[in-house]
Amino acid sequence: TSSHSTSNSDTMARLDITESFYQTDFPGHLHTQESLRFAQEFEFQDSDTIIVTYPKSGTTWMQQILTLVSSRGDPTPAKSIPNWVRAPWLEQYYFRDILRASQGPRLITTHLPYEVLASALHGSKAKVIYVARNPKDVAVSYYHFHKMAKFLPDPNTFEEFLDNFMEGTVHYGSWFDHVKGWTNHRNDLNFFYITYEEMLHNLRASLEKLCGFLQCPLLPEELTNIQRHCTFNSMKENNMVNYTLIPSEIMDHSKSQFMRKGKTGDWKELFSSKQSNHFDDIFEEEMLDSELEFIWE
Ligand code: A3P
Repeated sequence: TSSHSTSNSDTMARLDITESFYQTDFPGHLHTQESLRFAQEFEFQDSDTIIVTYPKSGTTWMQQILTLVSSRGDPTPAKSIPNWVRAPWLEQYYFRDILRASQGPRLITTHLPYEVLASALHGSKAKVIYVARNPKDVAVSYYHFHKMAKFLPDPNTFEEFLDNFMEGTVHYGSWFDHVKGWTNHRNDLNFFYITYEEMLHNLRASLEKLCGFLQCPLLPEELTNIQRHCTFNSMKENNMVNYTLIPSEIMDHSKSQFMRKGKTGDWKELFSSKQSNHFDDIFEEEMLDSELEFIWE
């Protein structure tokens, strides 16, 4: 039947997407073809909350915030359970069993591009929380992360890394496509958008806005407790979120710490003015078909 052939070709298209992402874009030891397919065919529940980010955009921060929102500011889970158990990565091989076993409401994390999850999320009321960050700061943070994360290739010079970042040939693909892919489909999803910069500028207001979206009104003192346990300094000291539990053969904290600087505008330390101007040109060109305007400062 025609509906049969449509669903077959949909499946083929989905597999093609998975295959091409598997081959080019993801750290292989964490993401297998099977784990990507598992993500693509995942049955989301309406009670799920999904944190969606391009790497280095504030993923861990949002994991911490959402854990604290669900505990109404009680720091116990945020201080006793590793963040990757509280909010497992949908696409990573190691987390499938945790995800399968967990009972709702679930907190799920993903760096996958929209196209890979579009069909699984179609018609779902799951809450999608998208955190974006100034791509120049993302590039700098990602560059340092490549030096410490042994599952990522050696970045070589910043110049070389930046070229790859702008070309979209780094792991997890193009920042521009990731941000556009998700934000241009915001009306098809139960979608909340926030920036790293906004959270850093006014965490309290960001929390209030987020709680409004989650339909989880909190008392002022609960919000104050949340704030206390998700500042950069408190997270840097908390080994359930600072990745020091990961063996140094996988993440070498002597090269760069995971909780590195936690600032906005750190790109100015590394970008030359030529690189910055070139980046601005690429940004303008790449974001022509973006429906959202991005403001970082
Ligand atoms: P820097 O390398 O610029 O310091 P992700 O969790 O998506 O991998 O993002 C990591 C980045 O978020 C790092 O950026 C890290 O320091 C920063 N970060 C983590 N927790 C933060 C917090 N509470 N406040 C500000 N920045 C935070």
